[in-house]
Formats: sequence, C-alpha cells, structure tokens
Amino acid sequence: MIKKAVIPAAGLGTRFLPVTKAQPKEMLPIIDTPTIQYVVQECVDSGIEDILIISGKGKRSIEDHFDKNYELESRLLEKEDEALYTHLRHIESMANIHFIRQKELNGLGDAIYHARFHCEHEPFAVLLGDTIIDSVIPVTQQLIDLYEQYGQTVVAVETVPRENVSRYGIVGGKNLSSKVMQVNKLVEKPGPEKAPSNLAIAGRYILTPGIFRILEKTPRGKGNEIQLTDALQILLKEEGIFAALIEGKRYDIGNKMDFLKTTVEFALKRKEFAGEFEDFLRETVKKIDKAKSQSDEKPESAF
Ligand code: UTP
Repeated sequence: MIKKAVIPAAGLGTRFLPVTKAQPKEMLPIIDTPTIQYVVQECVDSGIEDILIISGKGKRSIEDHFDKNYELESRLLEKEDEALYTHLRHIESMANIHFIRQKELNGLGDAIYHARFHCEHEPFAVLLGDTIIDSVIPVTQQLIDLYEQYGQTVVAVETVPRENVSRYGIVGGKNLSSKVMQVNKLVEKPGPEKAPSNLAIAGRYILTPGIFRILEKTPRGKGNEIQLTDALQILLKEEGIFAALIEGKRYDIGNKMDFLKTTVEFALKRKEFAGEFEDFLRETVKKIDKAKSQSDEKPESAF
C-alpha cells in the first residue's frame, strides 16, 4: 500500500519570470484553482492523504492556501455564500499536509532527499508540484496499481517528439505490454542521437525508500544539480525499475505555452464558461484567419 506522497515545490520557476519572482509557480491558477491544488487532489483521488510538500524561500502562500482562514470563512458565512464556504472548508481538509523547507536549491534529487525522515521505511509517490495530469484514472493510481503488481519503482512516461528528447529524462528497455516497460536505461536530457527511446519521464513516480541511500551519495550532474534521474540509474541496477505509459494528458505549468493551453482547455470543460468563452474563441479564430488572409494578399514591398 502506498500511503504517502511527496510534492517537490521549492524550485525557482525561472522559465516563468517575472511572475515567479515573488510568488510560487505552483500557485499559478488554472482559472481559479492553484496548480498545486490539482496535484494534491490527484493524491487524494489515488487514496493518499499524507502529503509532504517540499517548500522553500518565497513559498509561504502554498502553506496559507491549505491552511484555515477564519476571517474569510466568517465573511462568506455572513454573505450566505454556502458554496464558496464549503469549497474553502474542503481545501483545508483535503489531506494531512506537512511542509519541509529545501534551503538551497540543489535540484529535484536533493528536494526528494529532504523526504527521507518522512518516508524512510516505505515506498512513496512523487508528484511534481508544477505538473497537472488530466486523466480518467488518476496517474498516481495507475502507478500504484503497477507497484502492487511488480513491487518495484515505477515511473510514469509519455511519448515526446524525437527532436524534444533533450528536455526530459528518457527511458529505454524491454516492453512487457503496450503500456509497461522493464527499464534498462535512463538518461537525463540526452541529445536525439543518444536517446534510447522517445519515452520521457512525466513528473509522477512511485519510489522505493532505497532511493534515499543513493541520493545521499549522488554527485551533482546536469545543470550542477543533484538529478533524480542519476540516482534512478543506480536504483535500476540495484532493484529494477518499471515505466508505465500514462493514460492522460500532461500539462507542465512551469512553461508559459503549456500554461496558456491548460487555461483554455480547462475553461472549455467548465459549464459556467461554455457558451460565452466558446463564442469568444470562435470570434478570435475568425480574426486571426482574416488578418492572415489579408497579409497573404498584400503585394510584397519593393523595399
Ligand atoms: P523544475 O526543474 O521544473 O523547476 O522542477 P524549476 O527549477 O523551478 O524550473 P525552472 O527551470 O527554473 O523554470 C520540477 C518541480 O520540482 C521542484 C519545482 O518546484 C517543481 O515543482 N524543485 C525543483 C524543487 O522542489 N527543488 C529543486 O531544487 C528543483
């Protein structure tokens, strides 16, 4: 049984500056809900209610978000806004959330190493705090099911275009089915010519506690950071690792383009926005097409 999850959320979010200068990227809202709330919900929907968030400098608003806010709640009660009041009560009681601070940003491997006292004797889930995966069965639940079958570390993977492999940790190995691979190779951000496949690690893991012993000795790797993928390479030799092709769509909110796409796709799913927002999108597409056809018609300037 997997009972605990770790959510690393201490990173600087440099790809999303300047908004991340003074606020955590994990709190960037998809419409009205912070990214990390979707991540916590995935844990809860997968049966996990003990969550350790790896926090850091400038991340206090994450703690406040999952805490009780008496003033706001009593104001909502005065206004008789039952629905919002109930929603706020739900957020503060979603799970048992603990926090630990990563004082120096030494990378994802180091962030997970901070969970050693919380998870030292049992396997645990890891969910990146800036990544939402939209799926029918929560991806963490999909990984837990496989862990229960194989009893070894499981990483979620997705297919990515060959030309983009250098942005991800890439796995290679033997296919056990169309969805499960026994991993024999893991490479952090390889060039397309060195990548063992186009299967990228997708921000969700079930790790065995053996990872802590390895992380303790993992030297700095790519980007001068302690890379989780480097530690996983050693875990692979010692224990074995499985990769599960996720059934779901991954959104990396730390990347501006994904953030925009997520906002639009999630808004289209919300009944309250359906009509007006769809009309707005149709009008916008018409304007784009019109502007494009006008610029195509324009004779080329001689200068
Ligand atoms: P990223 O590599 O996407 O986060 O880590 P980052 O370093 O904040 O991003 P950029 O490249 O500067 O924009 C994925 C997750 O791991 C956490 C991040 O907060 C994010 O949720 N993380 C990363 C840590 O907790 N500690 C670290 O040292 C690095």
